[in-house]
Amino acid sequence: MASGSLAILFFCTLSPLLLLSSAQTCSSFSFTSKRSYTSCIDLPYLEAHLHWNYTPSTGKISLAYRAKQSSQGWIAWAINPSRAGMVGSQALVAFRNTNGSMTAYPTSITSYSPSLLPGSLSFQVSNISAEYLDNEMTIFAVLGPLEDATTVYHVWQAGSTVLNNIPQGHPLSPPNLQSTGTLSFLSKK
Ligand SMILES: *[C@@H]1O[C@H](CO)[C@@H](O)[C@H](O)[C@H]1NC(C)=O
Ligand SMILES: *[C@@H]1O[C@H](CO)[C@@H](O)[C@H](O)[C@H]1NC(C)=O
Repeated sequence: MASGSLAILFFCTLSPLLLLSSAQTCSSFSFTSKRSYTSCIDLPYLEAHLHWNYTPSTGKISLAYRAKQSSQGWIAWAINPSRAGMVGSQALVAFRNTNGSMTAYPTSITSYSPSLLPGSLSFQVSNISAEYLDNEMTIFAVLGPLEDATTVYHVWQAGSTVLNNIPQGHPLSPPNLQSTGTLSFLSKK
């Protein structure tokens, strides 16, 4: 009896919190480690969010891409300077290294079966790092200047497997094939 009512009390106390967290949007998210971003967007697939600060005078974009992921998986976010879609993407990828630390690096996607090894991109990238917290992976980086920051194609992706510190292919299910869009770094939310 006593434990039954305790369980009910616990559930009633917890459920508003659960509702709150599932409804949480990017604008109410706060980063640890004193990072803050003026703009953000909740992406429609793969439980992903992009946060950024755009500095018009330098053309630099400081960003954080975060997405739900297991500790064995990988996440990636990319700008495609030429077209919508995967091939040609200038990507940032992150995963947990076999040594336990989070690893993030740029990689350029040149085919539909790319080897996601570190590489250079068609624009500058600096200050890249990653963290894993609350079942989310986050990539932090500073990009740019870009040729055009007002309209870019972007693509985001996730996969469940990393082998010998190399992210492996992603599922071909609808969310993983629909995770592309256009973005203006000048917009605020
Ligand atoms: C893990 O490996 C990466 C890549 O080789 C390296 O940059 C990083 O410093 C290593 N971390 C630890 C804790 O050894
Ligand atoms: C990039 O990292 C360097 C060294 O940690 C730091 O001084 C600089 O402020 C960072 N730049 C940005 C735009 O965050």
